Amino acid sequence: MDLLIKNGTLISSQGKIKADLAVDGEKISAVAQSIPTGSAKKVIDADGLFVLPGAIDAHTHLAMPFGGTISSDDYFAGTRAAACGGTTTVFDFAMQDFGEKLTDTVLRRNALAAPQAAVDYAFHVAIKDLRDDLIHSLREAVDFGVPSFKVFMVYDFGVSDGDMLQILQEARACGALISVHAENREVIASRVSQYLAEGHGSAWYHYLSRPEFVEAEADERAIRWAREADTPLYIVHLANREGVKIVEKARAEGLTVYAETCPQYLEFTCDVYKRPDGRNFVCSPPMKGQASQDELWAAINRGVISTIATDHCPFQSYEKDWGKDDFTKIPNGCAGVENMFPYMLSKAGEGRVSYEKVIELCCENPARIFGCQTKGVLAPGKDADIVLYDPQQDFTITQDKMHSDCDHTIWEGVSLHGYPLQTYSRGRLVYDRGSFVGQEGWGKLLKRRLQP
Ligand code: URP
Ligand code: ZN
Ligand code: ZN
Repeated sequence: MDLLIKNGTLISSQGKIKADLAVDGEKISAVAQSIPTGSAKKVIDADGLFVLPGAIDAHTHLAMPFGGTISSDDYFAGTRAAACGGTTTVFDFAMQDFGEKLTDTVLRRNALAAPQAAVDYAFHVAIKDLRDDLIHSLREAVDFGVPSFKVFMVYDFGVSDGDMLQILQEARACGALISVHAENREVIASRVSQYLAEGHGSAWYHYLSRPEFVEAEADERAIRWAREADTPLYIVHLANREGVKIVEKARAEGLTVYAETCPQYLEFTCDVYKRPDGRNFVCSPPMKGQASQDELWAAINRGVISTIATDHCPFQSYEKDWGKDDFTKIPNGCAGVENMFPYMLSKAGEGRVSYEKVIELCCENPARIFGCQTKGVLAPGKDADIVLYDPQQDFTITQDKMHSDCDHTIWEGVSLHGYPLQTYSRGRLVYDRGSFVGQEGWGKLLKRRLQP
């Protein structure tokens, strides 16, 4: 036995148990009330600590060309930050180049990721171009082990409704899952022109150009196309109140619609765009009003939200500054991969949500929905992706304590009660009491299969 964690409190969606956990090599080998120390090479007394599965962040953008630049965390910095926040699996969006087969997109991005990743990682492919039979390379990607894809309804590379329907139909034929960034591109464009013409360039107008209804309309339309194609849909970064109702209604009608939300929508409202540093919070969809935030928390607690993910897409301050007088020049996105699990667990400590629900949303559901068979659960045979969490440790988030390459964090000054003490990735210690102790290139590409 390589590692024995004794007397900890193990948490799953089903509850808490006081138990011992044994690791052999990269796998969990036993979970039991009492495992004899025997010949264990290393024994940790976890009395007073929580023993948790490593979190899965199903939504990050690492080294992504976007907004006239490249997101500032490469595969090493992003996964190093993940490890230090108790996240042991990171999904990245591999953006298809025009004219590129979807498997080639995966291979091209994996050539960057494989030597750098510090924890295990997986890809969703963002589809931009389906001309010349490229749509049929979707099946090849599924067979390769990448069965999840994304379409954007916005940005200059967003797909048309016609293309989205075609992609959903192809996904149904291949057993793939399509995620969607849902906002109405035309309404945004019209409102942006209007505000700029009126001389309104501050970050507040980023929010006003994409308010609640801009997202809700697109949620409804995307679900409309999924219903037409008779296939499941995963809505990424759901941030608006009406969208929650739309998802609930679709489910009541028998559709499989998953909804992801992000910690930033649970902590901040659109008021951040009135702050002097408002441009640092510019992401799409933007933070919404208090009513949307309240509804997202309520939706978590009544089971409407399927997963929490970060949409980690950081840009340096000087890049955010490009848009200090014109919000359309601000690269969209914020850092968060290190903050998701500690933030959600701290909210559980406050009683806003249960610990069991956090494990369901941050670990078990992403593993199940995206076909990560070896992840998300502390059980014999699963990868030894483990977080030792101290529910009593106070932690205030500051830039100097983060492990991303980004030079600022929107989470600056947010106080948490409880924090990860150690993170293990396939049995290897990668984070220890404030420090990254892992290794660049340790992370492996996860090949996945969705459960029917
Ligand atoms: O603002 C964001 N969210 N940037 C990353 C790209 C996306 O829309 O997910
Ligand atoms: Zn998006
Ligand atoms: Zn995103």
